[in-house]
Amino acid sequence: MSVVETVTEASQAPSLNLRGEDKEQKAELYPYAHLLPHFSPEQYPPLTPFEHEDPGFRALQHADPRAFLKNATNVVELTPNLGTEIHGVNLVTLDSDGRDQLALEVARRGLVVFRNQHEFIDRGPESYLEWGRHFGRLHIHPTSGHPKDYPQIHLVYKDAKSSFNFEREDSITSTVWHSDVSYELQPPGLTTFFLLSQPTTGGDTLFTSQVSTLKKLSPQFIAFLRTLSAVHSGVEQAEFSRSGKRGGIVRREPVEHVHPVVRRHPVTGDEALYINRQFTRRIVGLKREESEAILKFLYDHIDKSGDLQARVKWQPGTVVLWDNRVTAHSAIVDYGKSNERRHGARITPQAERPIPALEGLELAGV
Ligand SMILES: [Fe+2]
Repeated sequence: MSVVETVTEASQAPSLNLRGEDKEQKAELYPYAHLLPHFSPEQYPPLTPFEHEDPGFRALQHADPRAFLKNATNVVELTPNLGTEIHGVNLVTLDSDGRDQLALEVARRGLVVFRNQHEFIDRGPESYLEWGRHFGRLHIHPTSGHPKDYPQIHLVYKDAKSSFNFEREDSITSTVWHSDVSYELQPPGLTTFFLLSQPTTGGDTLFTSQVSTLKKLSPQFIAFLRTLSAVHSGVEQAEFSRSGKRGGIVRREPVEHVHPVVRRHPVTGDEALYINRQFTRRIVGLKREESEAILKFLYDHIDKSGDLQARVKWQPGTVVLWDNRVTAHSAIVDYGKSNERRHGARITPQAERPIPALEGLELAGV
């Protein structure tokens, strides 16, 4: 398929095709038409466990684990607790060592923002897969749209006519802190995301450090949280699609898994809070009211900790990486009235089954 072809604004799910007359009226040249969301009806079997080898470990063996920054023209810490913005490093030039070092840097800083990565973005889907596979087995999302023939690439998409995102219209806010697909047995680690098309203003992304949100709590409370595990569920996300929204397709039956409330990063050893409003449902073993009260307290703490957050303003060519094991993030949907297109792609390697900060913590209860 050619990179440039005539396409339309998205219409109804699951196809983006419009009738011929509409095509004529609304046709435009969109350079990323080949990456528009496609909702194939095929069914996937359950995911199987695998051994994750974290690239950050390899970087620790390197004489200079930050050697990939040697050509950087500017390295700016976005906040003291979270996020680094890097200028002057072209991601496509990173060799295997450089990618390992990048993974370690993202693990340590939670969030790394690269600017002017047009070459990376324009290399296309085969290149995205090759990039992602360096960091782990690529996750295939059970419900989202993906470029045709590339189910490993998760897309977010909204324009004047359509939204294929997980948005609740009955909520007063679009802010929903989460760690991506945390309901999987082996949720993602290092994650890459970029926009192919963006509104003139708005559509920023919020990030927070779950290492820092944990550290703010008292030692006694942290010690208690380390003894807890929680159920993470993909059911609501699947039901959202089954109700006809977001493409209306569920390709893999939803799963629920139990993860520690405090997990340990395998490479850095950092402890992080690992609960999120989008997918965590209850704390195992506690009475319902106890579970609800603790989760609400923790969600409120995450919501209002502006001192632990960073906000990424997208520019053409921006590529952002975060480590889903130690951060949470939220989209900001403040651009709906502009009728502009926001089209993003995520490359999502899975990592290890979350390691409890408390050694020997039992993980059962679904
Ligand atoms: Fe996300």
